[in-house]
Formats: sequence, structure tokens, C-alpha cells
Amino acid sequence: MTRTLIAAALAWIVLVPASLGARQVPPGSPPSLINNPVPLTAKSIDTGRQRYQKYCRPCHGEDAHGDGPLAPKDVHPPDLTDASWTHGSSDGDIFTTIREGIGPKFTMRSWKSQMTDAEIWNIVNYLRSLAQKAGAP
Ligand code: HEC
Repeated sequence: MTRTLIAAALAWIVLVPASLGARQVPPGSPPSLINNPVPLTAKSIDTGRQRYQKYCRPCHGEDAHGDGPLAPKDVHPPDLTDASWTHGSSDGDIFTTIREGIGPKFTMRSWKSQMTDAEIWNIVNYLRSLAQKAGAP
């Protein structure tokens, strides 16, 4: 019994940090509390801008005001530069929205099969830079 416990404790000590490192985001963390691991640098913003222009512009619009030409008809993608966030306003919330999508209809789909976590964080940084230009807090 004691031996099993020790083995379990050892496995936990060895395996848990390894899995945290690999996943970046520990499973089960509340989205709001996930810290943005990518510093807000010009390089990150630029990479995020490129990904945004490729994947998000069709719906959210070139400047992220929600006026993209390919937004499905009955759907109004939100302005991503203003101060109002329906699905949470922390970096972790925005990251989770992009990574997991928004159910139940998923007109805002999940992008985790398309992008790595680091790429999604770059987009979060890009959106932050736009919001600052737009004067949102
Ligand atoms: C097919 C159109 C479409 C595409 C492409 C799309 N979105 Fe969305 N997005 C939406 C819609 C519609 C909503 C609102 C969904 C809702 O509230 O139910 C939304 C919501 C969001 C929100 C939540 C805003 C808030 O107020 O909380 C974020 C953040 C977001 N999108 C980011 C992105 C990013 C980043 C990309 C590119 C990787 C992207 N979207 C691609 C349609 C789209």
C-alpha cells in the first residue's frame, strides 16, 4: 500500500511538470486565469496580424471591426477592437474563445486544429494592439 502511494507520488512529480510543459495550458484551468506566455512585442503582433488576415478577416473584417465580407448572412461577428467582450476580456478568455470556438452553433469555430497555441497568443497580442489604437482600455 505504502509502496503504491510512493510510486503514485513519484509518477506525479515526474509526469505532471512534463505534461504542463508540453501542453502550455494546464487542463482544467479557468480561462480567465491563463496567463499570456507570449510577450507583447512588435514581432508577435506582426505574426498575429498575418494569421488574422488569413483566417479571421473574412468575417471580422480587415481592421477587426466585425464587417468582413464573408460573414455568414444571419451572423454578426463582433467588433474585436472595442472594449466590450461577450465571452470574457482577459487574454486567457480571448485565447480560449479562439482556441475552442463558441458553441452551440460554432459560427465562431475552434481554431486549434489550424494553429498552435503560440500562434493563437500572437493573434491575442495583435487584437490588443488594435484595441489600444482604437482607444479601448
Ligand atoms: C465564419 C466567420 C468567422 C470567422 C472566420 C472567425 N470568427 Fe470570430 N466570431 C464570429 C462570430 C459570429 C462571433 C460571435 C459568436 C457568438 O457570440 O456567439 C465571433 C466571436 C469572436 C470572438 C469573441 C468576441 C467577444 O466579444 O467575446 C473572438 C475573440 C473572435 N471571434 C476572434 C476570432 C479570430 C481571432 C478569428 C480568426 C482566427 C475568428 N474569430 C474567425 C465569426 C467568425
